[in-house]
Amino acid sequence: MILPIVAYGDPVLRKMCEEIAPSYLNLQELIDNMYETMNGANGVGLAAPQVGQSLRLFIVDASPLAEEEDDPSLVDFKKVFINPEMLSEEGEPWDFNEGCLSIPEVREDVRRKPYIQIRYFDREFNQHVERFSDLPARIIQHEYDHIEGVLFIDHLSPLKKRLLKRKLTDISKGKIEVGYKMKFPLIKTR
Ligand code: NI
Repeated sequence: MILPIVAYGDPVLRKMCEEIAPSYLNLQELIDNMYETMNGANGVGLAAPQVGQSLRLFIVDASPLAEEEDDPSLVDFKKVFINPEMLSEEGEPWDFNEGCLSIPEVREDVRRKPYIQIRYFDREFNQHVERFSDLPARIIQHEYDHIEGVLFIDHLSPLKKRLLKRKLTDISKGKIEVGYKMKFPLIKTR
C-alpha cells in the first residue's frame, strides 16, 4: 500500500525516533509499504518518520541512480536499516546535490564525509556492522539524519536557508505540484 509522504513542516520530521523492538507488530508490512511508497515516488531512500512513524527505521534502493551516475554497483544497494547506530564518519568532505521526498523541488549541494561505519539490524533482526563509501554512504547519512530529526537543508548556510524560506512555507501549505501522494501539515482537514 502506498502511504502519504509527510511534507516539510510536520513535527514528526523533527523528532528523535524511537528504537523498534523485535516484537513490533506489523513491521514487515510497514517495510513493504515503505518500499512501495519510495518506488512509487522514484526515491532512493525513505525513513519511517516520512510516513508518519517516529521509528528508527529507513530503507534504501539506489538502483534508480545506477544509470544516472554510471555506477552499476548501485543496482545492488537495496537494504533495510533497523535501529541503526552510526559508528564513524571519516574522510575529506565532498559535495553532492541532495533532494528529499518530504521537500519536493528543492535540491542543494550538501557536504558530507565519504566513509562511514554503521551498525544496524536487517528486517529479520540480524545484526550487521558494515562500512560504506561514496553514494551508498551519502544515502545512508541522509536517511540516518531523518531518524535523528535532521533534514538535509539543516546542513546549508544561513544565507541559503533564508533564500529557501518562502519555498519551504509553500511546501508545508501544499502549494506545490508533486507527482506522489503527500500529507501537508498546514492544510487544515475537516
Ligand atoms: Ni529525505
